[in-house]
Amino acid sequence: MSIVDIHTHVYPPSYMEILRSRTNVPYVRTFPPDPIPRLLVLPGEDGPTSTSTSRGRPIGPEYYSIEHKIAFMDAHEIDISVISLANPWLDIVEPSEAAQRACEINDEMNSMCLQYPGRLFMFGALPLKGTLEETVLEIKRLRGLSCVRGVVMGTGGLGNGLDDQKLDAVYAALQEEELTVFLHPHYGLPAEVYGPRAAEYGHVLPLALGFPLETTIGVSRMILSGVFDRHPTLSILLAHSGGTLPFLAGRLESCIAHDLHLAAGPVRRNIWDVLAKNILLDAVIYSSVGLKAAVAVAGADRVLFGTDHPFFPPMNPGGQGWLSVTMNYDAVSAAFGDSAEAKGILGGNAVKLLRLEL
Ligand code: URA
Ligand code: ZN
Repeated sequence: MSIVDIHTHVYPPSYMEILRSRTNVPYVRTFPPDPIPRLLVLPGEDGPTSTSTSRGRPIGPEYYSIEHKIAFMDAHEIDISVISLANPWLDIVEPSEAAQRACEINDEMNSMCLQYPGRLFMFGALPLKGTLEETVLEIKRLRGLSCVRGVVMGTGGLGNGLDDQKLDAVYAALQEEELTVFLHPHYGLPAEVYGPRAAEYGHVLPLALGFPLETTIGVSRMILSGVFDRHPTLSILLAHSGGTLPFLAGRLESCIAHDLHLAAGPVRRNIWDVLAKNILLDAVIYSSVGLKAAVAVAGADRVLFGTDHPFFPPMNPGGQGWLSVTMNYDAVSAAFGDSAEAKGILGGNAVKLLRLEL
């Protein structure tokens, strides 16, 4: 049985150069006297001078070295990883440079994967800041890169979110090329919702709640705008077990059924049908409660193990065992023991759904 991690990120060296060259979030720099560089990546994270964890996090080779990724996989018995560029992807590049950056970074990551044949695959990044034509062209080019199995995307789309009709050309190309969209949050919720004491709580509110709600709203807007009616075989993998979608799907469906505005529009596919056929959920939810909910809505054959490496490292510097990984392993075994379902979630589903053979 193979163990597959489908939620695992890198900032390849050329992206690190971009982060090091910037002075506003996201960026990487040192704050003397501490010699260790820090990554400030989340919107609004560039707060008051302090060494608390709310001012970014230390960043080392686990973020950009593929040897470190492999060592991490070996330490946690992960056979295969499907790596993705970490947030905020190419959302930060100049429009005129987007297409070329996408091409370079995707080629760079594909070369990283080729250093470990059969152990590494990838989700490519899209030049969404460039022109629509450039994004569609990159999708077609990605299909030809041997390690690419899908694309990673945030919720911003072309600037107006994922229900933007202009994205239809992108969705059509992804459907045609059979590339899975890995939908991942970055922007969270407006800072005011966290209140004036937010800084006291470090990254907890934006990461634990802002991220999943962003994903939930992003995919709900896709469903409401009929993306899955127009692209019935588009496949989308939702980060963090779909945010809160498994828990709120019934309420979403009920609100649709009771909304006169929507009743006057075209007939939409039922949410449960979209969940069962178009949506894959990762198992990055750290508890059997959330994992069972994910399986209840997507099916045990459509939930896929992940780690979110290199984010959430051990709290003791240099620590080996990643709690963020063991919590996700423990959730699978608490919910499904050693069953066929557990084996599917841990790797079998990913091998099949993402064609993880060379
Ligand atoms: N923080 C991030 O910025 N990205 C992740 O994927 C996880 C935590
Ligand atoms: Zn992630």
